[in-house]
Amino acid sequence: MCGIVGYIGHRRALPLLLNGLRRLEYRGYDSAGIAVPHGGGLFIAKRAGTVAHLAAMLEHLNLPATMGIGHTRWATHGEPIDRNAHPHTDATGRIAIVHNGIIENHAILKAKLLEDGYGFVSDTDTEVLAVFIGALYQQYGDLELAVRTALSEVEGTFGLVVLSADHPDLLIAARRGSPIVIGVGDGEYIVASDATAIVEYTRSVFYLSDDEMAVITRAGCQTKTIEDIPTSAQLLELEFDLERIEKGGFPHFMLKEIYEQPTTFRDACRGRLLLQEGNVKLGGLRSVEEQLRQARRLIFTACGTSWHAALVGEYWIEQLARLPVEVEYASEFRYRNPVLYPDDIVIAISQSGETADTLAAVREAKLRGATVLGIVNVVGSSIARETDAGVYIHAGPEIGVASTKAFTSQLAVLMLLALYLGRMRHLSPTDAREIAQELARIPEKLQYVLDTTAELTREIAHLYAHAQNFLYLGRGVNFPIALEGALKMKEISYIHAEGYPAAEMKHGPIALIDENMPVVVIVPRDELYEKVLSNMEEIRARRGKIIAIVTEGDVAAARLATHVIPIPETLPLLTPILSVVPLQLLAYYTAVERGCNVDMPRNLAKSVTVE
Ligand code: M6R
Repeated sequence: MCGIVGYIGHRRALPLLLNGLRRLEYRGYDSAGIAVPHGGGLFIAKRAGTVAHLAAMLEHLNLPATMGIGHTRWATHGEPIDRNAHPHTDATGRIAIVHNGIIENHAILKAKLLEDGYGFVSDTDTEVLAVFIGALYQQYGDLELAVRTALSEVEGTFGLVVLSADHPDLLIAARRGSPIVIGVGDGEYIVASDATAIVEYTRSVFYLSDDEMAVITRAGCQTKTIEDIPTSAQLLELEFDLERIEKGGFPHFMLKEIYEQPTTFRDACRGRLLLQEGNVKLGGLRSVEEQLRQARRLIFTACGTSWHAALVGEYWIEQLARLPVEVEYASEFRYRNPVLYPDDIVIAISQSGETADTLAAVREAKLRGATVLGIVNVVGSSIARETDAGVYIHAGPEIGVASTKAFTSQLAVLMLLALYLGRMRHLSPTDAREIAQELARIPEKLQYVLDTTAELTREIAHLYAHAQNFLYLGRGVNFPIALEGALKMKEISYIHAEGYPAAEMKHGPIALIDENMPVVVIVPRDELYEKVLSNMEEIRARRGKIIAIVTEGDVAAARLATHVIPIPETLPLLTPILSVVPLQLLAYYTAVERGCNVDMPRNLAKSVTVE
């Protein structure tokens, strides 16, 4: 949530900062701003709206500064208007900061500063911190000490960068709960809230840990705790390249990412499927193998799309490993005083690895002594670092706010986990081999689904783009896909959509059905197929419009449906991996048809790092 970029080096800072903000805009896009040293003071530009608005305001400028900071915002404290945009300054206007996170004790700090005669121009918690740092700087005459002292008194979370007109060769970055990654180039450093702003300049990076800060000059970078104890930075090589964060000819990141799924699914399984042995190798779980063998219960915790992936995982693991699984919203888990036993394993699922609720659930579970694992996309993210062990999904950067490829890659890893746990228990090598072999065929089936359903879903989207509501129904392992289809539809097209287990329809939602209600029914040929056909009959009798996701060649389901979207045959357990794709496309084309900003849906941001 919110993007931060900072630069110090030999290049002109302004174009680099704006470029970084464009790359980070998926993290927040309601206002943007920059600050650079200029003429002995600071030049600050900020405004409500997108980075493009800010860039248009600055395009005629050719400022010589070779350092600066920038921010793209998703509002928490204070509405998205010019004066609430970052950077914020201290009372002298000579110190500027950009900040992600929330200063929870901002009201107390502000009251004290007001008593001391300081004034404020914004409604933000960040300005309170800027003014506080400035006040301490007046007292100590030492910027680093002022920042450290301020941060030790702050409650809440921060990822921040500080710049001062008095120190044109110094940037100070710090982190607690909100990621900061620092790219190391030749005589230059790029500080950012994620690596997408860095990768085109350098691949060499390190991440700050919580309560760690970096004091950066052109000559070098020192890291230390905010208590001033030196730390050592561990350099890593970024694994993705620029191509992965550009649209590559697609009109939107979301569509590009939907089309990447055959590749990303293959990448998630790469080197992990032991086809001959009918088994799975998950190197990241080696250290907890014994705990997994002894486990009596798994608890998945996640939010949004990742929570839907967990629901599919629940079916798979219970089916293949006969191990009880619970799925908890992370936001509920953390506050419900959860009952955990020593042989429980908690598994957090998160694309970003930074979702505040999921991270808090990880911490809660660890406090209660559980073994905590992560299924995460972003390498080096907070959840990846704070869990005892885990599995990366290797989907590459996901920029579209609506999660697509991360979901199918999470499913890939969850099925691998189900096979792994199954083989530790009662699953026979023959049964595991059959699933593993079909899993290896999924990428080509995903490609087939993309090739055969894109045009069809676009036509259906055209017909129903005016709808006020959508209902999504599925059963068994496809019930979570109904939830996911509905989430995709509402988050990018703003059409109200609900997902239900198909049989639940008659307990209430059926009242909504009339000739204006499009009902998406996921009805592959599996053990519940006949039951879902009966539900379709019920919808048809009420003149609802049925958009059915069916197994290719299924005439009976086709006869009941208004529109049919066929997916290829696969093992019933694996159908969710294919059935979700037309639902992603349907949401995408509906949003495009309605003129919505697909990659930047209103009120949302890519990773929700606040509670
Ligand atoms: O990064 P995470 O997987 O932890 O994010 C969880 C949710 O915020 C996320 O899946 C959200 O629901 C997506 N926008 C859905 O498309």
